[in-house]
Amino acid sequence: MDTLEPTAPAATAEAVIEVRDLCIGFGGRPVLRGFDLTVRRGENMMVLGRSGSGKSVLIKCLVGLLRPDSGSIRILGQDVLALDQEALDRLRVRIGFLFQSSALYDSMTVRENLEFPLRRHALARKPAERDARVREALANVGLEHSADLYPAELSGGMRRRIGLARTLVLAPEIVLYDEPTSGLDPITAREIVELILGLQRKYRTSSVIISHDLHVARLAANRIAVLIDGRNHAEGTYDELRAMSDPQIQRFFTSL
Ligand SMILES: Nc1ncnc2c1ncn2[C@@H]1O[C@H](COP(=O)(O)OP(=O)(O)O)[C@@H](O)[C@H]1O
Ligand SMILES: [Mg+2]
Repeated sequence: MDTLEPTAPAATAEAVIEVRDLCIGFGGRPVLRGFDLTVRRGENMMVLGRSGSGKSVLIKCLVGLLRPDSGSIRILGQDVLALDQEALDRLRVRIGFLFQSSALYDSMTVRENLEFPLRRHALARKPAERDARVREALANVGLEHSADLYPAELSGGMRRRIGLARTLVLAPEIVLYDEPTSGLDPITAREIVELILGLQRKYRTSSVIISHDLHVARLAANRIAVLIDGRNHAEGTYDELRAMSDPQIQRFFTSL
């Protein structure tokens, strides 16, 4: 089996993320203008959009870091915009968020970086349990021997993997990836895509992958939503989008 092939979600898979008519702007300038998105359990959904189109803003709305002006967001059956801080924190534990920069703590070892989210959320409190979680997360990114290294001792690709491991240590049901391959060379980028696909297959993780990179879209996504002018302009598989005559869609393909 080709390792670079997304796993199809079950035919009956329920929606785990439902975004409806999302609107947000800054200083009177609209960024999202009625954005819709549905992600089903076990699905890798890609949001493709140019730089500055509002992809990171969308992800930040999903995890409650930004508050939209209007619209609705349901995640894992909960109305995100109606949750109080405590309920939002509980939901966030179930959602991994891989930032555009891996944002590791330089003064902490890899192990300490990975233990940090467990301590913050008071999870896996027994040392043996914590060790097991850290070991599994590191194994999942192929870096089981780097627990005692410091971030400065890691390459860019390794740092990205450790950032992903730190997300995985909480065993999230949903992972949001913001530009997971940006700034990486093509081979390392491909390795990150392989990891994303491996996690989808192993844990049935649902993902939103945000990128401007059509190569990532082709390799990693079950479906692709194209974000243009603040809306979900078109949606489909890579092949479906490629077959569309819409010039705004075609522009992504001709720039390859
Ligand atoms: N907190 C913020 N305050 C003001 N403007 C913002 C903020 N966050 C994002 N923006 C603006 O929203 C637009 C979309 O940003 P972003 O979502 O980061 O784009 P990208 O698709 O590249 O991730 C940009 O014009 C950016 O300057
Ligand atoms: Mg961004």
